[in-house]
Amino acid sequence: MTYLAKNYNRKKISFVKGKGSYLYTSSGIKYLDFVQGIAVNCLGHANPKLAETIKNQSKKLWHISNAFQIPEGEKLAKKLCQKTFADYVIFQNSGTEATEAAIKVARRYYYSIGKPYKNRILCIKNSFHGRTIAAIFASGSKKMTEGFGPKVPGFDHINFKNKKPRFPNLRNKIKKNTAAIMVETILGEGGIKQIPDKCLKYLRKICYQKKILLILDEVQCGVGRSGDFFAFEQSKVKPDIVPIAKGIGGGFPIGAVLMNKKVATGMTPGTHGSTFGGNPLAMAVGNSVIDIVSSKKFLNNVKKSSKYFFSKLNKLKKRYPNIIKEIRGRGLLIGIKLHKDQGKFIQKLMDNKLLTIRAAENVVRILPPLNVKKIELDQAIKIMSKVCSELK
Ligand SMILES: Cc1ncc(COP(=O)(O)O)c(C=O)c1O
Repeated sequence: MTYLAKNYNRKKISFVKGKGSYLYTSSGIKYLDFVQGIAVNCLGHANPKLAETIKNQSKKLWHISNAFQIPEGEKLAKKLCQKTFADYVIFQNSGTEATEAAIKVARRYYYSIGKPYKNRILCIKNSFHGRTIAAIFASGSKKMTEGFGPKVPGFDHINFKNKKPRFPNLRNKIKKNTAAIMVETILGEGGIKQIPDKCLKYLRKICYQKKILLILDEVQCGVGRSGDFFAFEQSKVKPDIVPIAKGIGGGFPIGAVLMNKKVATGMTPGTHGSTFGGNPLAMAVGNSVIDIVSSKKFLNNVKKSSKYFFSKLNKLKKRYPNIIKEIRGRGLLIGIKLHKDQGKFIQKLMDNKLLTIRAAENVVRILPPLNVKKIELDQAIKIMSKVCSELK
Protein backbone atom coordinates (compact mmCIF):
# COMPACT_ATOMS: atom_id res chain seq x y z
CA MET A 1 0.00 0.00 0.00
CA THR A 2 1.36 3.42 -0.91
CA TYR A 3 -0.05 6.83 -0.21
CA LEU A 4 2.04 8.34 -2.98
CA ALA A 5 0.08 9.13 -6.13
CA LYS A 6 0.85 6.85 -9.02
CA ASN A 7 2.41 9.40 -11.38
CA TYR A 8 5.74 7.55 -11.44
CA ASN A 9 6.48 4.09 -12.72
CA ARG A 10 8.95 3.28 -9.96
CA LYS A 11 11.28 0.29 -9.87
CA LYS A 12 10.64 -2.00 -6.92
CA ILE A 13 13.84 -1.10 -5.13
CA SER A 14 14.92 1.52 -2.63
CA PHE A 15 18.25 2.68 -1.29
CA VAL A 16 19.32 3.78 2.14
CA LYS A 17 22.81 5.05 1.45
CA GLY A 18 24.98 6.42 -1.32
CA LYS A 19 28.71 6.97 -1.64
CA GLY A 20 30.36 8.32 -4.78
CA SER A 21 29.24 6.22 -7.73
CA TYR A 22 27.46 3.63 -5.59
CA LEU A 23 24.06 3.15 -3.95
CA TYR A 24 23.30 0.64 -1.18
CA THR A 25 20.04 -1.12 -0.30
CA SER A 26 19.00 -1.72 3.32
CA SER A 27 20.46 -5.22 3.09
CA GLY A 28 23.78 -3.81 1.93
CA ILE A 29 23.51 -4.72 -1.77
CA LYS A 30 25.68 -2.36 -3.80
CA TYR A 31 24.65 -0.86 -7.15
CA LEU A 32 26.77 1.14 -9.57
CA ASP A 33 24.62 4.23 -10.05
CA PHE A 34 24.93 5.61 -13.59
CA VAL A 35 21.68 7.54 -13.24
CA GLN A 36 22.84 9.85 -10.44
CA GLY A 37 19.39 11.35 -9.98
CA ILE A 38 19.27 11.95 -13.78
CA ALA A 39 22.43 14.03 -14.19
CA VAL A 40 21.97 15.73 -10.81
CA ASN A 41 24.65 14.34 -8.46
CA CYS A 42 27.57 15.56 -10.52
CA LEU A 43 30.01 14.80 -7.68
CA GLY A 44 28.42 11.47 -6.78
CA HIS A 45 26.53 10.60 -3.62
CA ALA A 46 27.39 12.12 -0.25
CA ASN A 47 30.37 14.04 -1.55
CA PRO A 48 32.38 14.93 1.59
CA LYS A 49 33.00 18.54 0.52
CA LEU A 50 29.29 19.13 -0.16
CA ALA A 51 28.29 17.35 3.07
CA GLU A 52 30.62 19.64 4.99
CA THR A 53 29.24 22.73 3.23
CA ILE A 54 25.68 21.75 4.15
CA LYS A 55 26.68 20.99 7.74
CA ASN A 56 28.45 24.33 8.18
CA GLN A 57 25.79 26.44 6.47
CA SER A 58 22.93 24.64 8.24
CA LYS A 59 24.32 25.85 11.56
CA LYS A 60 24.35 29.45 10.31
CA LEU A 61 21.36 30.26 8.11
CA TRP A 62 19.03 28.13 5.97
CA HIS A 63 16.44 30.40 4.55
CA ILE A 64 15.77 34.07 4.34
CA SER A 65 13.41 36.00 2.11
CA ASN A 66 14.62 37.54 -1.13
CA ALA A 67 13.43 40.79 0.45
CA PHE A 68 16.95 40.87 1.95
CA GLN A 69 20.49 40.65 0.55
CA ILE A 70 21.82 37.07 0.34
CA PRO A 71 25.65 37.18 0.15
CA GLU A 72 25.97 33.46 -0.72
CA GLY A 73 23.73 34.08 -3.76
CA GLU A 74 25.70 37.18 -4.76
CA LYS A 75 28.83 35.06 -4.67
CA LEU A 76 27.40 32.25 -6.79
CA ALA A 77 25.91 34.68 -9.33
CA LYS A 78 29.28 36.42 -9.64
CA LYS A 79 31.06 33.13 -10.29
CA LEU A 80 28.45 32.08 -12.88
CA CYS A 81 28.77 35.40 -14.69
CA GLN A 82 32.55 35.57 -14.56
CA LYS A 83 32.84 32.06 -15.99
CA THR A 84 30.21 32.36 -18.73
CA PHE A 85 28.45 34.63 -21.27
CA ALA A 86 26.06 35.87 -18.57
CA ASP A 87 25.79 39.28 -16.92
CA TYR A 88 22.92 38.51 -14.54
CA VAL A 89 21.33 35.52 -12.78
CA ILE A 90 17.97 34.76 -11.15
CA PHE A 91 17.89 31.73 -8.86
CA GLN A 92 15.10 29.17 -8.85
CA ASN A 93 14.62 25.70 -7.37
CA SER A 94 14.29 23.42 -10.36
CA GLY A 95 14.82 23.06 -14.08
CA THR A 96 11.26 23.70 -15.11
CA GLU A 97 11.13 26.91 -13.07
CA ALA A 98 14.37 27.97 -14.73
CA THR A 99 13.01 27.36 -18.24
CA GLU A 100 9.78 29.20 -17.42
CA ALA A 101 11.81 32.09 -16.01
CA ALA A 102 13.80 32.08 -19.27
CA ILE A 103 10.54 32.47 -21.20
CA LYS A 104 9.49 35.31 -18.88
CA VAL A 105 12.83 37.10 -19.36
CA ALA A 106 12.47 36.88 -23.17
CA ARG A 107 8.87 38.14 -23.22
CA ARG A 108 9.52 40.85 -20.70
CA TYR A 109 12.49 42.12 -22.72
CA TYR A 110 10.32 42.74 -25.78
CA TYR A 111 7.60 44.25 -23.62
CA SER A 112 10.16 46.61 -22.09
CA ILE A 113 11.32 47.85 -25.51
CA GLY A 114 7.77 48.53 -26.68
CA LYS A 115 7.22 45.32 -28.65
CA PRO A 116 4.83 43.34 -26.43
CA TYR A 117 3.46 41.49 -29.49
CA LYS A 118 6.82 39.65 -29.71
CA ASN A 119 5.94 36.90 -27.25
CA ARG A 120 5.92 33.56 -29.04
CA ILE A 121 8.62 30.98 -28.33
CA LEU A 122 9.78 28.58 -31.03
CA CYS A 123 10.74 25.16 -29.64
CA ILE A 124 11.69 21.75 -30.99
CA LYS A 125 8.73 19.41 -31.28
CA ASN A 126 8.92 16.67 -28.62
CA SER A 127 11.75 18.33 -26.72
CA PHE A 128 11.75 18.59 -22.92
CA HIS A 129 11.76 21.71 -20.81
CA GLY A 130 10.01 20.47 -17.67
CA ARG A 131 6.60 19.51 -16.38
CA THR A 132 4.86 22.72 -15.36
CA ILE A 133 1.87 23.79 -17.37
CA ALA A 134 3.66 26.15 -19.78
CA ALA A 135 6.77 23.95 -20.06
CA ILE A 136 4.76 20.94 -21.25
CA PHE A 137 3.19 23.01 -24.02
CA ALA A 138 6.66 24.30 -24.89
CA SER A 139 7.66 20.68 -25.54
CA GLY A 140 4.70 20.18 -27.87
CA SER A 141 4.68 16.53 -26.95
CA LYS A 142 1.28 14.81 -27.07
CA LYS A 143 2.27 12.42 -24.30
CA MET A 144 3.09 15.24 -21.88
CA THR A 145 0.19 17.55 -22.70
CA GLU A 146 -2.65 15.05 -23.07
CA GLY A 147 -5.37 15.78 -20.52
CA PHE A 148 -3.81 19.03 -19.36
CA GLY A 149 -5.71 21.42 -21.59
CA PRO A 150 -6.63 24.07 -22.34
CA LYS A 151 -3.54 24.50 -24.46
CA VAL A 152 -1.19 27.19 -23.20
CA PRO A 153 -0.73 29.54 -26.14
CA GLY A 154 2.51 31.20 -27.16
CA PHE A 155 4.54 28.23 -28.42
CA ASP A 156 5.37 27.19 -31.98
CA HIS A 157 7.33 24.14 -33.03
CA ILE A 158 10.03 23.12 -35.44
CA ASN A 159 11.28 19.64 -36.20
CA PHE A 160 14.84 18.60 -35.47
CA LYS A 161 15.86 15.94 -37.96
CA ASN A 162 18.64 13.41 -37.81
CA LYS A 163 19.75 14.37 -41.30
CA LYS A 164 20.10 17.61 -43.22
CA PRO A 165 18.36 19.98 -43.26
CA ARG A 166 18.25 19.61 -39.48
CA PHE A 167 15.66 22.34 -39.04
CA PRO A 168 13.50 22.23 -42.15
CA ASN A 169 11.51 25.36 -42.88
CA LEU A 170 12.99 27.23 -39.90
CA ARG A 171 12.99 30.69 -41.47
CA ASN A 172 9.29 30.46 -42.32
CA LYS A 173 8.44 29.46 -38.76
CA ILE A 174 9.84 32.72 -37.41
CA LYS A 175 7.04 35.28 -37.50
CA LYS A 176 6.75 38.95 -36.57
CA ASN A 177 5.54 37.90 -33.10
CA THR A 178 8.35 35.40 -32.41
CA ALA A 179 10.39 36.42 -29.37
CA ALA A 180 12.87 33.58 -29.11
CA ILE A 181 14.04 30.18 -30.20
CA MET A 182 14.40 27.85 -27.19
CA VAL A 183 16.24 24.54 -27.62
CA GLU A 184 18.22 22.09 -25.50
CA THR A 185 21.85 22.15 -26.66
CA ILE A 186 21.81 18.36 -26.27
CA LEU A 187 18.31 16.88 -26.13
CA GLY A 188 18.33 14.71 -23.01
CA GLU A 189 14.92 13.10 -22.55
CA GLY A 190 14.58 13.25 -26.33
CA GLY A 191 17.26 10.58 -26.78
CA ILE A 192 20.66 12.28 -26.20
CA LYS A 193 20.67 14.11 -29.49
CA GLN A 194 23.24 16.86 -29.94
CA ILE A 195 22.51 19.91 -31.97
CA PRO A 196 25.70 19.99 -34.07
CA ASP A 197 27.90 23.08 -33.62
CA LYS A 198 27.19 24.16 -37.18
CA CYS A 199 23.45 24.11 -36.50
CA LEU A 200 23.87 26.06 -33.26
CA LYS A 201 25.81 28.67 -35.22
CA TYR A 202 23.05 28.71 -37.82
CA LEU A 203 20.43 29.22 -35.10
CA ARG A 204 22.47 32.08 -33.66
CA LYS A 205 22.84 33.68 -37.07
CA ILE A 206 19.12 33.49 -37.79
CA CYS A 207 18.30 34.89 -34.33
CA TYR A 208 20.55 37.90 -35.01
CA GLN A 209 19.11 38.38 -38.49
CA LYS A 210 15.50 38.16 -37.35
CA LYS A 211 16.22 40.12 -34.15
CA ILE A 212 14.97 37.41 -31.84
CA LEU A 213 16.58 35.82 -28.78
CA LEU A 214 18.34 32.49 -28.42
CA ILE A 215 17.55 30.47 -25.30
CA LEU A 216 19.71 27.38 -24.78
CA ASP A 217 18.29 25.01 -22.17
CA GLU A 218 21.30 23.53 -20.37
CA VAL A 219 19.35 22.04 -17.46
CA GLN A 220 20.57 18.53 -18.28
CA CYS A 221 23.65 19.06 -20.44
CA GLY A 222 25.14 22.02 -18.55
CA VAL A 223 27.46 22.41 -15.56
CA GLY A 224 30.26 20.17 -16.78
CA ARG A 225 28.13 17.27 -18.02
CA SER A 226 29.34 17.72 -21.63
CA GLY A 227 33.00 18.10 -20.65
CA ASP A 228 32.75 21.88 -21.01
CA PHE A 229 31.07 24.00 -18.38
CA PHE A 230 28.28 24.61 -20.90
CA ALA A 231 27.69 22.33 -23.88
CA PHE A 232 27.31 25.29 -26.27
CA GLU A 233 30.84 26.60 -25.50
CA GLN A 234 32.41 24.26 -28.03
CA SER A 235 30.43 25.97 -30.84
CA LYS A 236 31.56 29.45 -29.68
CA VAL A 237 27.90 30.51 -29.88
CA LYS A 238 26.74 33.06 -27.33
CA PRO A 239 23.13 32.61 -26.27
CA ASP A 240 21.00 35.37 -24.71
CA ILE A 241 19.39 33.29 -21.99
CA VAL A 242 20.36 29.94 -20.42
CA PRO A 243 18.31 28.03 -17.86
CA ILE A 244 20.30 25.61 -15.71
CA ALA A 245 19.50 23.31 -12.75
CA LYS A 246 20.41 19.67 -11.97
CA GLY A 247 24.22 19.67 -11.71
CA ILE A 248 24.62 23.09 -10.15
CA GLY A 249 23.19 21.81 -6.85
CA GLY A 250 25.08 18.51 -6.89
CA GLY A 251 21.88 16.92 -5.45
CA PHE A 252 20.47 19.96 -3.69
CA PRO A 253 17.56 21.54 -5.59
CA ILE A 254 18.78 24.65 -7.39
CA GLY A 255 17.68 26.19 -10.65
CA ALA A 256 18.87 29.39 -12.27
CA VAL A 257 18.36 31.48 -15.34
CA LEU A 258 21.43 33.22 -16.74
CA MET A 259 21.03 36.18 -19.09
CA ASN A 260 22.96 38.88 -20.86
CA LYS A 261 22.79 42.58 -20.04
CA LYS A 262 20.48 43.42 -22.92
CA VAL A 263 17.62 41.11 -21.94
CA ALA A 264 18.08 41.69 -18.20
CA THR A 265 16.84 45.27 -18.61
CA GLY A 266 13.25 44.01 -18.66
CA MET A 267 13.51 42.31 -15.27
CA THR A 268 12.70 45.26 -13.05
CA PRO A 269 11.68 44.91 -9.36
CA GLY A 270 8.52 42.85 -8.93
CA THR A 271 8.62 41.18 -12.37
CA HIS A 272 9.71 37.79 -11.04
CA GLY A 273 10.31 36.09 -7.71
CA SER A 274 10.49 32.87 -5.75
CA THR A 275 10.11 32.17 -2.04
CA PHE A 276 12.79 29.49 -1.90
CA GLY A 277 14.92 30.40 -4.93
CA GLY A 278 18.44 31.43 -3.97
CA ASN A 279 18.20 30.59 -0.26
CA PRO A 280 21.52 30.62 1.67
CA LEU A 281 21.66 26.82 2.15
CA ALA A 282 21.18 26.14 -1.56
CA MET A 283 23.58 28.91 -2.52
CA ALA A 284 26.30 27.61 -0.20
CA VAL A 285 26.07 24.20 -1.90
CA GLY A 286 26.05 25.81 -5.35
CA ASN A 287 29.23 27.71 -4.51
CA SER A 288 30.99 24.52 -3.46
CA VAL A 289 29.82 22.69 -6.59
CA ILE A 290 30.93 25.41 -9.00
CA ASP A 291 34.34 25.77 -7.32
CA ILE A 292 35.02 22.12 -8.09
CA VAL A 293 33.19 21.58 -11.37
CA SER A 294 34.26 24.72 -13.22
CA SER A 295 38.00 24.16 -12.79
CA LYS A 296 39.92 23.41 -15.99
CA LYS A 297 41.51 20.37 -14.39
CA PHE A 298 38.13 18.89 -13.40
CA LEU A 299 36.62 19.50 -16.85
CA ASN A 300 39.67 18.02 -18.57
CA ASN A 301 39.23 14.97 -16.45
CA VAL A 302 35.56 14.69 -17.51
CA LYS A 303 36.75 14.81 -21.12
CA LYS A 304 39.36 12.16 -20.41
CA SER A 305 36.85 9.81 -18.75
CA SER A 306 34.44 10.45 -21.59
CA LYS A 307 37.00 9.62 -24.28
CA TYR A 308 37.94 6.40 -22.52
CA PHE A 309 34.31 5.37 -21.97
CA PHE A 310 33.24 6.17 -25.54
CA SER A 311 36.09 4.11 -26.96
CA LYS A 312 34.99 1.15 -24.82
CA LEU A 313 31.33 1.64 -25.73
CA ASN A 314 32.13 1.81 -29.42
CA LYS A 315 34.09 -1.43 -29.13
CA LEU A 316 31.04 -2.98 -27.51
CA LYS A 317 28.88 -1.72 -30.38
CA LYS A 318 31.27 -3.33 -32.86
CA ARG A 319 31.06 -6.61 -31.01
CA TYR A 320 27.27 -6.55 -30.73
CA PRO A 321 26.01 -4.75 -33.86
CA ASN A 322 22.68 -6.56 -33.64
CA ILE A 323 22.03 -5.16 -30.18
CA ILE A 324 23.64 -1.70 -30.17
CA LYS A 325 22.66 0.61 -33.00
CA GLU A 326 24.44 3.80 -32.00
CA ILE A 327 26.43 5.42 -29.21
CA ARG A 328 25.32 9.01 -28.73
CA GLY A 329 26.21 12.02 -26.66
CA ARG A 330 29.14 13.96 -25.33
CA GLY A 331 31.10 14.13 -22.13
CA LEU A 332 29.30 11.98 -19.58
CA LEU A 333 25.84 12.49 -21.07
CA ILE A 334 25.66 9.26 -23.02
CA GLY A 335 22.97 7.37 -24.89
CA ILE A 336 23.05 3.83 -26.19
CA LYS A 337 20.49 3.42 -28.92
CA LEU A 338 19.41 -0.19 -29.13
CA HIS A 339 17.87 -2.37 -31.81
CA LYS A 340 16.10 -4.38 -29.14
CA ASP A 341 13.78 -3.34 -26.33
CA GLN A 342 15.37 -0.72 -24.10
CA GLY A 343 13.28 -1.72 -21.04
CA LYS A 344 14.54 -5.29 -21.02
CA PHE A 345 18.15 -4.11 -21.41
CA ILE A 346 17.84 -1.64 -18.51
CA GLN A 347 16.27 -4.35 -16.34
CA LYS A 348 19.08 -6.78 -17.15
CA LEU A 349 21.71 -4.16 -16.34
CA MET A 350 19.93 -3.59 -13.04
CA ASP A 351 19.83 -7.34 -12.33
CA ASN A 352 23.62 -7.11 -12.69
CA LYS A 353 23.77 -4.12 -10.31
CA LEU A 354 24.18 -1.32 -12.84
CA LEU A 355 21.57 1.45 -12.79
CA THR A 356 20.74 3.31 -16.01
CA ILE A 357 17.64 5.08 -17.29
CA ARG A 358 15.62 5.33 -20.48
CA ALA A 359 15.37 8.21 -22.96
CA ALA A 360 13.25 8.55 -26.10
CA GLU A 361 14.07 6.73 -29.36
CA ASN A 362 14.87 3.44 -27.59
CA VAL A 363 17.93 4.94 -25.94
CA VAL A 364 19.49 3.81 -22.65
CA ARG A 365 20.86 6.87 -20.85
CA ILE A 366 24.17 6.56 -19.02
CA LEU A 367 24.92 9.35 -16.56
CA PRO A 368 27.89 8.60 -14.30
CA PRO A 369 28.98 11.19 -11.76
CA LEU A 370 31.47 13.60 -13.36
CA ASN A 371 34.20 12.41 -10.99
CA VAL A 372 33.65 8.75 -11.90
CA LYS A 373 36.71 6.51 -11.59
CA LYS A 374 38.20 4.51 -14.47
CA ILE A 375 37.66 1.29 -12.54
CA GLU A 376 33.95 2.12 -12.27
CA LEU A 377 33.69 2.75 -16.01
CA ASP A 378 35.39 -0.62 -16.56
CA GLN A 379 32.91 -2.28 -14.23
CA ALA A 380 29.98 -0.77 -16.18
CA ILE A 381 31.45 -1.99 -19.49
CA LYS A 382 31.89 -5.46 -18.07
CA ILE A 383 28.23 -5.56 -16.99
CA MET A 384 27.01 -4.20 -20.33
CA SER A 385 29.14 -6.70 -22.18
CA LYS A 386 27.68 -9.56 -20.11
CA VAL A 387 24.12 -8.37 -20.77
CA CYS A 388 24.82 -8.04 -24.51
CA SER A 389 26.20 -11.56 -24.63
CA GLU A 390 23.10 -12.89 -22.85
CA LEU A 391 20.72 -11.06 -25.20
CA LYS A 392 22.58 -12.04 -28.37
C1 LIG B 1 16.57 20.01 -20.65
C2 LIG B 1 15.67 20.01 -19.45
N1 LIG B 1 14.98 21.12 -19.15
C3 LIG B 1 14.18 21.17 -18.07
C4 LIG B 1 14.03 20.09 -17.23
C5 LIG B 1 13.13 20.16 -16.03
O1 LIG B 1 13.86 20.12 -14.86
P1 LIG B 1 13.16 19.75 -13.48
O2 LIG B 1 12.76 18.33 -13.55
O3 LIG B 1 14.20 20.05 -12.45
O4 LIG B 1 11.98 20.65 -13.33
C6 LIG B 1 14.75 18.91 -17.50
C7 LIG B 1 14.62 17.73 -16.63
O5 LIG B 1 14.96 16.64 -16.96
C8 LIG B 1 15.58 18.87 -18.65
O6 LIG B 1 16.28 17.78 -18.96
